[in-house]
Amino acid sequence: MSQKKIIVSNRLPVTANRDEESGALEFKPSAGGLATGLSSIFKEKGNLWIGWPGIPDFKEDEKPGVIKSLRGENMAPVFLNKKEVLLYYEGFSNRTLWPLFHYFTEFTQYTPEDWDMYVAVNQKFCDAILEYAGPDDIIWVHDYQLLLLPSMLREKLPNATIGFFQHIPFPSYEIFRLLPWRSEILEGMLGADLLGFHTYDDTRHFMSSVSRIAGYPNSMGTIKMANRIISVDAFPMGIDYDKFEKAARSKETYEKVDKYKSLFANQQVVLSIDRLDYTKGIKRRLYAFDKFLEMYPEYIGKVVLVLLVVPSRDKVDQYQQLKEEIDTLVGKIDGKYSTIDWTPIQYFYRSFSFDGLSALYSKADVALITPLRDGMNLVCKEYVASKVTQKGVLILSEMAGAAKELSEAILINPNDEAEIVEALKQALEMPEIEQRNRLLEMQEKLKRYSVHRWVEVFVEELLNVKDRQAKMNIK
Ligand code: G6P
Repeated sequence: MSQKKIIVSNRLPVTANRDEESGALEFKPSAGGLATGLSSIFKEKGNLWIGWPGIPDFKEDEKPGVIKSLRGENMAPVFLNKKEVLLYYEGFSNRTLWPLFHYFTEFTQYTPEDWDMYVAVNQKFCDAILEYAGPDDIIWVHDYQLLLLPSMLREKLPNATIGFFQHIPFPSYEIFRLLPWRSEILEGMLGADLLGFHTYDDTRHFMSSVSRIAGYPNSMGTIKMANRIISVDAFPMGIDYDKFEKAARSKETYEKVDKYKSLFANQQVVLSIDRLDYTKGIKRRLYAFDKFLEMYPEYIGKVVLVLLVVPSRDKVDQYQQLKEEIDTLVGKIDGKYSTIDWTPIQYFYRSFSFDGLSALYSKADVALITPLRDGMNLVCKEYVASKVTQKGVLILSEMAGAAKELSEAILINPNDEAEIVEALKQALEMPEIEQRNRLLEMQEKLKRYSVHRWVEVFVEELLNVKDRQAKMNIK
């Protein structure tokens, strides 16, 4: 029996772009860690990655060509129309689940039309998978946009091996129970054989909701259902360590860093990189930087904050509003402290190329990563991996999943402005030997548990659960 492996996520590892003038379509590969990590699986002959190509407006006569060319690269598209994108993606995924699971209850909307479309689109993904999947295949579903999919698949393919990994936090029971569709969501997830989260706390929260809302007994990471067991565990996602290390040692990066050295002569660089998102704590970070300059004016002209904000979900109101607030705040701080030859914040609202990022990571004396809540946060790991000279300091929020592994960073509470201010001072003045010791410890851990290892460990555990289930049935 040959088992195919099928990866499913809301987005494919490529995104379609339409040229506004000519209308021509172009597919750009995603540079994200997940795409790199899972390429070892989906690029293998016979395997497949199923997902949305990222834009809603495919014409009917274009679809067969798109399907054919993606199939050549082991991908299959799920086409979504404008209404589906509006209600399922912008709506239930990003106006309900995203804010709720990140503890932003004040932003969470509970809209029955969005929920109905979430169910319908999860079903659409299920139908798309059923076109390719055999009864015994291995299906690995990713993230909060597809929480109902494991059970929908289980119903049609009772013997399939189904894994689910959630890339965002799973909130505590007190938050999760606010959701009107909490039982349906849990039942949807429980179609999987193995459920993975980034941290032990996430698994604990999930288990607590399973017993209190769904009423299934569970202990030691195992949930007992009527006819099978389900395993739940923490799998902290890693990065492609070698890729970042290699890039940091490349000629291109050295050349760029040299250029930055003259641009930032006699200035220390503090780097901040995020998708535009209220969970990332960008505003509080800016307030803290303002306070830092106010409290330690000797740093005026001596430190620059490179603030990189990557556009995201710009149709969702909270994201639009946040963009305006950040623009205003950056303007205020720059207006307050700038001198003729120095600007405290260099602000970029766009994506950067991989080479550009690598050079910024290499150059930055400090990375200031202060999310209010974050499933994992890979930027901080990429920064650490890029520090091949072992000079640099990571300031990291306790609220990021990565803080559980990176205890040698300066850990801060992102709501404590005074603590961020002091952390900045400590980082900018840290002796080189201490920077080195802290970085070496963190690098050791990240090297060992790369994204490739993460994929291997998850798949191994998924197959183990299936074995345990089989043994239980024999007895
Ligand atoms: C987070 C989520 C992913 C999502 C990504 C980008 O990392 O966990 O599932 O793909 O953000 O967001 P977007 O809405 O553009 O897909």
